[in-house]
Amino acid sequence: MGAPEVNVHVHNVSDNNEKEVSIIYVPSHLHHICFELFKNAMRATMETHPDDIDLPKINVWITKGDSDCSIKISDAGGGASRQTTTKWFEYLYSTAPRPPRSEDARVTPLQDMGMDSPYQGCTLGTWVVTYRFNPWRGTEPMLTFT
Ligand SMILES: Nc1ncnc2c1ncn2[C@@H]1O[C@H](COP(=O)(O)OP(=O)(O)OP(=O)(O)O)[C@@H](O)[C@H]1O
Ligand SMILES: [Mg+2]
Repeated sequence: MGAPEVNVHVHNVSDNNEKEVSIIYVPSHLHHICFELFKNAMRATMETHPDDIDLPKINVWITKGDSDCSIKISDAGGGASRQTTTKWFEYLYSTAPRPPRSEDARVTPLQDMGMDSPYQGCTLGTWVVTYRFNPWRGTEPMLTFT
């Protein structure tokens, strides 16, 4: 099983361009949001480029200025038409194949029935998530923390 590489670019304007970016936020919430966004970006990349040895990378831009911080996760997973992307934010909308059921109760699938884009499409405390779609190229959700 493969996975696209992730390139992280940091622009830390507010702290002399240091590579480490510090903000105040609930870590588990940020982890959850980013985990789901990466899961979506990786699946889209793998499904759009099933036979590619050189998979297009996922690029992450973390930018911190004096008054806000943003995280942009950009994939080349094909994106979708504007008409289709409105469905992404509906509860239970998912194009992911159903995961196989395991007899072992401790094994939980990584797929959760399309519950996360609606969550990502809203304001999460001080983060706002906006999406930019590049039809036929990819998707760029951007988290903005003010
Ligand atoms: N970056 C992306 N590129 C292409 N399609 C996407 C992307 N993000 C979301 N989608 C589409 O939106 C649908 C809904 O996404 P959502 O994250 O809500 O559910 P899911 O990924 O199918 O399942 P899960 O609940 O495990 O996240 C996906 O099934 C997929 O069709
Ligand atoms: Mg998902």
